[in-house]
Order: sequence, then C-alpha cells, then structure tokens
Amino acid sequence: MLKKITTVASVVLLSALTACSSGGGGGTAPSNGGGTITMGFAQVGAESGWRTANTKSIQDEAKAAGIDLKFSDAQQKQENQIKAIRSYIQQKVSVIAFSPVVETGWDTVLLEAKRANIPVILTDRSIDSDDTSLYKTFLGSDFVEEGRKAGDWLVANASGPTTVVELQGTTGAAPANDRKKGFEEKIAAKPDIKVVASQTGDFTRSGGKQVMEAFLKSQPKIDVVYAHNDDMGLGAIEAIKAAGKVPGKDIKIITVDAVKDGMTALANGEINFIVECNPLLGKQLMDLAKKVVAGEDVPARVVTEEGTFTQEQAKTALPQRQY
Ligand code: AHR
Repeated sequence: MLKKITTVASVVLLSALTACSSGGGGGTAPSNGGGTITMGFAQVGAESGWRTANTKSIQDEAKAAGIDLKFSDAQQKQENQIKAIRSYIQQKVSVIAFSPVVETGWDTVLLEAKRANIPVILTDRSIDSDDTSLYKTFLGSDFVEEGRKAGDWLVANASGPTTVVELQGTTGAAPANDRKKGFEEKIAAKPDIKVVASQTGDFTRSGGKQVMEAFLKSQPKIDVVYAHNDDMGLGAIEAIKAAGKVPGKDIKIITVDAVKDGMTALANGEINFIVECNPLLGKQLMDLAKKVVAGEDVPARVVTEEGTFTQEQAKTALPQRQY
C-alpha cells in the first residue's frame, strides 16, 4: 500500500569537476587531414527510447561541431563493441568514445588504444578497471544516486508491508548494478519494504513485459514494480493490464529515464514516479573531445544534470519534452 504521492523536489546535479585527467595515450592525439577531428563512437545498441535520444544527440552535435563521426551499433554485445573499437584504432581516428555495454572486460582493448596514442572518452556508462589511465574522462549520470532517488520516493510513499518486484537492466551494466545498489541502500530504512523478485529485462520493452508476466504468475502479491528504465516499465504496464489489473493503482510503478513515452504514462497515472536520466550528452561529449584531441586537461568525471518527476510534474513538463 502506498500513501498519497507527495511532490518530490527535483535535484539537479551540475558537472562535478573532480581531479584533472592525466591518463590515456600521452601527447596530442592524431587528427586527420586539414585538422578535422574524427571520432569513433561505439554505441550500446538501440534498446530503449533513451538510447535513441542519446544516439540522435551524439550524431546531431558531432555535425554541429564539425566532427567527422564514425558510428557503430553493438546490438548490446560487448564483443561487437570491442571489434568496433579495434577498427577505430586501425583507422587511426582522433578520439574514441563509447558507452560500455557492461562494466568489466575492457582493459585489453583500451590498452591497445592507449598504445596507439588515441584518447578514449567514456560516455553514459563507466567501466570497472583499476587503470584510470585507460580513459581521459567519464561523462554521464550518477546511477547510484538515481537508484537512491527511486528508493527515497518509495520510503516516503509506502505504508505497511510492501512487496516490490524489480526489473533490472542488462546484467553487468553499470546502470543495472548501480540503480539496484542505490535503491537497496534507501529501502533498507524500512524493513516492511521487501524486494520479492528481481530479474533482468535487458532494458527493453519486450524484456520488461516478459519478466513481468512471469512475476505476475509466480508472486502472490505485488505492490510495486521498480523498473531500471522506462521501456521495461512500459512493458510491465502491458503485462499488468493483460492480467486484469490497473497499473499505477493496483500495482504502483517506479521507473528511470523520463523519455516521452514514460512521461506520458506517468501523466496518465499508469506510472507513479520517474527518476530522470539525461540522454542529451552530445554537446558535452563534442566539447570534451575537442579538448582531449588538443591535449588539454579535462575533468576526470563530468556528472550530467537530472531531476525527478511526479505525475503532476510530468503533466507540466510533457509539452516541452524533446525526446
Ligand atoms: O545507460 C543508460 C541506460 O541505458 C538507460 O537508462 C536505459 O534506458 C538504456 O538502455
């Protein structure tokens, strides 16, 4: 059971500029003929509305910045991203940027880039490596904080025993690991809130629907769905409706992203709360790329701006929503 929804103030995290990066391919990076910067970008895939907006932002801003973009879609497979990065090294691009599908297993290929004197920028997702000299900077959200915001909302709005099912993002991906961690950290304050099932829906709508169908069959009581992104939450809505229940009422839904489809479901009362994850990273990425190629220092970590949305806030924000 949940108490009436109260307004949750938006939190804006501005760029957190920590230590200046010194690692990743010493000296000035190569730029091809005429000084044009060439960027090799290895994207995760096209798994979600968030990813579509992120890809568009990168492509549009590369064009606006006069950067020659070589783009590849890894279809959510690490081996495809590694192949793409190796091909960018062979092509001697000026800079490589990528959003790692999973956190681990990058040291070998990034060492190859470093030896080829090609700087690397991590964008959206980070890697789990002790060697921070393998990349120049990491631009993206604080995913643990996003999970905390979701947990805070539930703690503030739950009353009495509350059973939660969790739709996790891609196994091993930074946003899946961190959003789970931040959420668990906060709900620990209320032992009445229990996560009774947790499974990956791979950040896709079909994955969310399929896993939710199974949860509805196996769990005698579900009060809340915590979905690591809007798409899985939207898939869960379909499954809940098909089971004859009312999403947002019989089963409350918390998601992360705040893309247009998610915000529409929130405004319609089918989702109850969304934590924003900003996909519009293109402009900041191109600015950072120009600096690293010029051999300038850049912050080791740049945290993107994000807020949260209640149903009322979604109604106000929707008409201006770009993605
Ligand atoms: O890494 C960002 C996450 O990846 C987004 O929250 C999700 O929608 C996407 O697939």
